[in-house]
Amino acid sequence: KRHLLSAADLSRADAELILSTAAELRELADRPIKKLPALRGRTVVNLFFEDSTRTRISFEAAAKRLSADVINFAAKGSSLSKGESLKDTALTLEAMGADAVVVRHGASGAPHRLAHSGWVRSSVVNGGDGTHEHPTQALLDAFTMSRHLGQGQARSLDGRRIVIVGDVLHSRVARSNALLLHTLGAEVTLVAPPTLLPVGVGTWPVEVSYDLDAALPKADAVMMLRVQRERMHGGFFPTAREYSRRYGLDGKRMATLQDHTIVMHPGPMVRGMEITADVADSDRSVIVEQVTNGVAVRMAVLYLLLGGSTPAVGGEE
Ligand code: CP
Repeated sequence: KRHLLSAADLSRADAELILSTAAELRELADRPIKKLPALRGRTVVNLFFEDSTRTRISFEAAAKRLSADVINFAAKGSSLSKGESLKDTALTLEAMGADAVVVRHGASGAPHRLAHSGWVRSSVVNGGDGTHEHPTQALLDAFTMSRHLGQGQARSLDGRRIVIVGDVLHSRVARSNALLLHTLGAEVTLVAPPTLLPVGVGTWPVEVSYDLDAALPKADAVMMLRVQRERMHGGFFPTAREYSRRYGLDGKRMATLQDHTIVMHPGPMVRGMEITADVADSDRSVIVEQVTNGVAVRMAVLYLLLGGSTPAVGGEE
């Protein structure tokens, strides 16, 4: 495959190849020398029209650990403020010889436009588009789940119950996770107030519940979502206090989880809103580990898309 635009584009074999490649590359994170020469001479551009901490930095770390050159483009401080279009920005990147472009954009579908426009020859990776998709987040989440919950040699997620809680309406993370986890054989339940569920959720391969307390004891993993106030334009929203009371994960609710159940959050978190600080910092929380795993998963994606020389993680560099 040339691009990674949607979790829906990944077959089970594709996803498992990315996850197994990431598992090899993840071993590098624990070594003093974390770098491989696999993408030497290739150029990865981070094209971020929306703010990001984890995704942008981890793609940069991933590309550098594979010895690629990295160009970071942030909308702030660029000629976008002078009215430059996505097309002219893309043509500029093409002229600089980008092999892969990681794009985050507020408009759903922007990475697809870039990939199919003919403006660039490079691989396009969706780093989050509007409220649509965030496929590498779903991959790193699946990778993290499979390390903790995976069964058998392949660390399969078949039959595992994943509960995703909160503002599904505005969450590209929820959509990509629902699609990928279904592909990998897991059972996903979305828990949200009716006003924070998308109209088309009936077509998603998930169950829907409005009752967090009923869903938690059955979960193998619980993924909390941030309420994305910046994407709400006058729609109904409960007060923060009311939201936390009904849909927040606190210590009391965490006590109803099974012993093996992990707590996840893609970040950024709003402590005290969807998750309390004691839960975020508890032994069950794998939130920081998700970030570490994100580098390995993004290395695997770049490596597989750009067809680098063999990663050979087993040997010393
Ligand atoms: N999870 C995630 O996409 O975080 P950033 O917005 O910081 O990249």
